[in-house]
Amino acid sequence: MVVQSKGFGVIIAGAPASGKGTQCTRIVEDFGVVHLSTGDLLRAAVKAESPLGLEAKGYMDSGKLVPDQLVIDLVAEKLKSEECQTKGWLLDGFPRTAAQAEALAASGATVDCFISLEVPDDALIDRVVGRRLDPETGAIYHATYDPPPAEVAARCIQRSDDTEEKARVRLEQFHANVAAVAAFYSSVIATVDGARAKDAVSADINTSLNAAYTKMQENEKA
Ligand code: AP5
Repeated sequence: MVVQSKGFGVIIAGAPASGKGTQCTRIVEDFGVVHLSTGDLLRAAVKAESPLGLEAKGYMDSGKLVPDQLVIDLVAEKLKSEECQTKGWLLDGFPRTAAQAEALAASGATVDCFISLEVPDDALIDRVVGRRLDPETGAIYHATYDPPPAEVAARCIQRSDDTEEKARVRLEQFHANVAAVAAFYSSVIATVDGARAKDAVSADINTSLNAAYTKMQENEKA
């Protein structure tokens, strides 16, 4: 993985259904960075039945992590794009293991802020099972707490891995790796309480990102 880093580099991390995707929509609006969700990229590969998708499908269907090298290659290709190089990037769901974090560090990509969204496990299962997605706009809803508007409700879908059983496997994988990943970013970590209303979570993220952005600009001038 060789990526020269220019522009704002942000990672958002957190357990399954901690609200990463929901917050990424707002971060993109505020900072204009390119959103790279490894989950979305892998689901697109599965849908397209590409070689990557065919290899990843079994892991994703069971809630397990896709092998490191497949995801590292996928992210490296995207980060090298001109769009990421000029606008900066927002990694959502990567890195998820120490090996992925090592590959990102070795690539030359500079991480300006690592947002760690924290939500208790018991709230996460409820969020996973109730999640509904609009396949046309990518909007994220919750069947009970944030139901889709009537005009889009009929086309909304549920992810195949959004069952309680698979969510528990995904949570186990998260807890097995989270400390090792966070250790790479101790100097740029912003821990955010994700168990509050979305706007309160966004406000804290925005404050941390503004501070990180200012610091990046100062470092560039120095
Ligand atoms: P991925 O798609 O990344 O899934 P995930 O990490 O489990 O995260 P989610 O997409 O489930 O949740 P989210 O945090 O984005 O929450 P959301 O905003 O949607 O990965 C899927 C699979 O791909 C993995 O299991 C693995 O197999 C593979 N994979 C991906 N990356 C990989 C990698 N790097 N290495 C190896 N394998 C990889 O919100 C969830 C729900 O909560 C919604 O209903 C929403 O409305 C609601 N909600 C959001 N915020 C709030 C709030 N503040 N209050 C109340 N409800 C809220």
